[in-house]
Parts: sequence; C-alpha cells; structure tokens
Amino acid sequence: MRVSVFGLGYVGCVTAACLAKAGHEIVGVDINAEKVAMVNAATPPVVEPGLAELLATVVGAGRLRATTSSEEAVAASEVSLVCVGTPGRASGQLDVDAVVRTGQRIGAMLRRRAEPHTVVLRSTVLPGTTERSLVPALLDGARGRAALRVAVNPEFMREGSSLADFARPPLTLVGCGDPATASVLRLLYDGVDAPFVHTSIRTAEMVKYAANAFHALKVAFANEVADACNALGADAREVMRVFLMDRKLNVSEAYLRPGFAFGGSCLPKDLRALLHAARGADVSLPVLSAILPSNEAQVRRGVEAVLATRRHRVGVVGLSFKPGTDDLRESPMVTLVEALIGKGCDVRILDRNVATARLVGANRRYIEEEIPHIASLMCASVEALLAHAEVLVIGNASDAAALTLASAGSGHVIVDLTRGATRPPAGAASAA
Ligand SMILES: NC(=O)c1ccc[n+]([C@@H]2O[C@H](COP(=O)([O-])OP(=O)(O)OC[C@H]3O[C@@H](n4cnc5c(N)ncnc54)[C@H](O)[C@@H]3O)[C@@H](O)[C@H]2O)c1
Repeated sequence: MRVSVFGLGYVGCVTAACLAKAGHEIVGVDINAEKVAMVNAATPPVVEPGLAELLATVVGAGRLRATTSSEEAVAASEVSLVCVGTPGRASGQLDVDAVVRTGQRIGAMLRRRAEPHTVVLRSTVLPGTTERSLVPALLDGARGRAALRVAVNPEFMREGSSLADFARPPLTLVGCGDPATASVLRLLYDGVDAPFVHTSIRTAEMVKYAANAFHALKVAFANEVADACNALGADAREVMRVFLMDRKLNVSEAYLRPGFAFGGSCLPKDLRALLHAARGADVSLPVLSAILPSNEAQVRRGVEAVLATRRHRVGVVGLSFKPGTDDLRESPMVTLVEALIGKGCDVRILDRNVATARLVGANRRYIEEEIPHIASLMCASVEALLAHAEVLVIGNASDAAALTLASAGSGHVIVDLTRGATRPPAGAASAA
C-alpha cells in the first residue's frame, strides 16, 4: 500500500520503517526539516535499537522517504497514519493541536479526490477526540468535500524494544465504524503477528489509557509491596516471584471486570492489617492506602444512583458480597442498604443464599445479632420483590438477578451495580 506517516518521532519513525520493511511504499512527513533530512539520509532521528540498520535497508531500497510537504505525501498515498505528538499541558490537559493541524492539512488535499482516503490516528488521544477534533479538522480542511475513512489504531510499542514490539504487539487494535475501513487496516498490518481486534473508535481510544494506567499501577503496586516487604522482613523479589506464579487469580482476568465494590471477610480486613503494619514501620503506601477509599466511593455512587431515581420503594437483588455465598461480612450491599434505609427508602431484599442462612447455617447468628434490621427485609420471591419495588437494584450477577431483570416491567427503574454483568456485553469487540 502507499502510506503517508505524519510525525517522525518515536512512533512515526518506527512505524514508517517497519511498514516499509513489510513491503509498503512509505512517505514520512514532519514539520521538523532536520528530522526529515535525517530520515532521507537513513540516520535515525531517535535512538532505538535496530532502527539505524532498518532505515539503511528501507531508505536504500527506495521504500521509505521523507518530506516536509503534507501535500506531496497525501498525493502519494491512499492511507495516512497520524503519529504526531500529543503532549500534556502543565495542567495535565492533553494538547491535540498537532492532530488538528495535521487533520486540516490532510483534509485540504482531499477536496478534489474522488477515491476514499483512509486516515488512521495512531497518536494517543482521549475518548471522543477523533469525533470531536480530528474528523471536523479533516472536513474543515476539505471544506466538507472529502471521501473519508477514519480509524483509530493505538500504538502499543515500548521504547527500547519497539521494532520487536511492532512485529509482535499484544494486539492490533482498530477502532472504526465500518468493515471497509477495518479491511484497509487488516491489509496494512497483514504481516504483523497479533490478533486483529475491531472495535468502536471510543473503545480503541480508551483502551490505550486503560492499558497505560494499568501499567503505571502495576509498577507502583510492585514497588509498594516491595516497601512493605522490606519493612516487615520479607524478601520482595521472592514474594513477587511467587506472586507472579499465580496465573489464576493474580496475573489473569480475575477481578478485572467492571462491577460493584469489593467486600467479604478477607480483602478489606487484610488490606487494613497490611496498612496498619506499614504505618507502624513508618512506611508510606499511597497506592495501597487509596484502595479502601476508592471502594467506599463506589458504594456512595451506588447509593446516589438509587436516590437520584427519586423513588422510595426499593428492591435489592443480592445482599452477600458476591453471588453463590451467604457471607455478609463487610458486604458493600449491606452498607448500601443501610444507607438507603437511613435516607428513608422502603427496602426489600432478595437473596436466596442469605434467606437460607437465616434459618440454618453458620451465618445465622451474624444475621440475627449484627444486622437484624436488614434480615427482616428479606423477600421470598422475585414476584414479591417486583410487587414491592419501584426501583430494582442489582447487587450481584446471579440467576435471581437475571430472572428479576427479565420479569421487570416498564414501570421499574433499574439500577444495575454490576454494570451489565447479567447481560452479554453490548458492542463487544470482535477478535480474529
Ligand atoms: N513514544 C512512545 O513510546 C509511544 C508509544 C505509544 C504511543 N505514543 C503516542 O504516539 C504519539 C507520538 O509519540 P512520539 O513519542 O512519537 O512523539 P515525538 O514527540 O517523538 O514525535 C512527534 C513528532 O510529530 C512531529 N509533528 C508535530 N506536529 C506535526 C505536524 N503538524 N505535522 C507533521 N509532524 C508533526 C514532531 O515534529 C515530532 O517529530 C503521542 O500521542 C504518544 O503519546 C508514544
């Protein structure tokens, strides 16, 4: 394919060189004439292992050249990759001026073009930027007369190993509205060894932020665990080596689905004990200390969502801290119910496991002694709950929750704290 690559920094330069290696015909564009001259001389404008050798090959073979002229580059291509910088301002706000200016320049070249041009945003931008900034800039440049295809294709390479990461990224992520645009990207990345994931534009934009926030969180987490280890006399390297061996619960999909707050007899208690011990040793653990307040904020959000319905009769499905258990210790749903009662709501609760535990089982005493005010609100059936409730609060993704949702009438307002965990995800990405 004939491809123009806007921005010859780390991402643009590596992308341009690797696509040229894959056999595409590439024109790189940068406003910095020095970088353009360096690429044309096969000298890497950024330090990256292997890039000098690769540039020598692809520039020498005539498959990669660079220019400062957007016009020349767009005229010579059917696809434009936007890899310009999106720096942060002092406030943290993202600066997308270079993306907008690039969009206007590409758009201006498309005014008189009949065949569709595919514009692919590879720079990191917040959800909504493509629709709110790039597309209007392209149409503005084209005075509304462009045959356009637009996609978001975040870059997952790491500086220092970017050539290898380009060839074998975790996934090829493409956000776009139509299969025709996705097909262009499939062809472009034909030689890349990774699952091709086609999703919406906003999802693709946001996945990059979720990924980078998670990577940052992992580093901070590992360092804080190491600090706690040092304070408590454990070997941090050995602790994390063993921790990483658990691919079922630790390094896995577990605990990474959006839903409601955590609770139960272990996580809150054990976090508190670790933080208490660290405080005793004068060790500060800011990330770990932020977890319980963050969890409490989720419970407050749930209470506010119910109160915002301005309805008084509330039916709660799921009282234990997760489905399939009768354990009510530190259940966030108990806290939520107590807050709603405090605000004057008339609450009824459906939870078969807890109902059974009320009659028999080890939790009977806990229910009778610790939360008798809540135990008396239990409902016997979905029908009884529906007859009482104006608002239905789904606390956990159980069969009872699915049944309640399926039987709810149009008069019931639903507050789903599981964020749709009882339904298949809407607009799920397709991977092939
Ligand atoms: N560096 C990384 O490891 C990495 C990884 C993934 C994603 N990203 C994202 O990719 C984007 C680019 O990052 P980078 O590190 O390559 O940035 P960079 O600052 O190294 O390079 C950006 C280049 O864009 C050029 N440029 C600016 N305005 C332009 C315009 N109007 N037309 C043409 N060129 C223009 C600049 O001169 C510069 O050479 C950013 O959004 C970044 O967040 C970076």
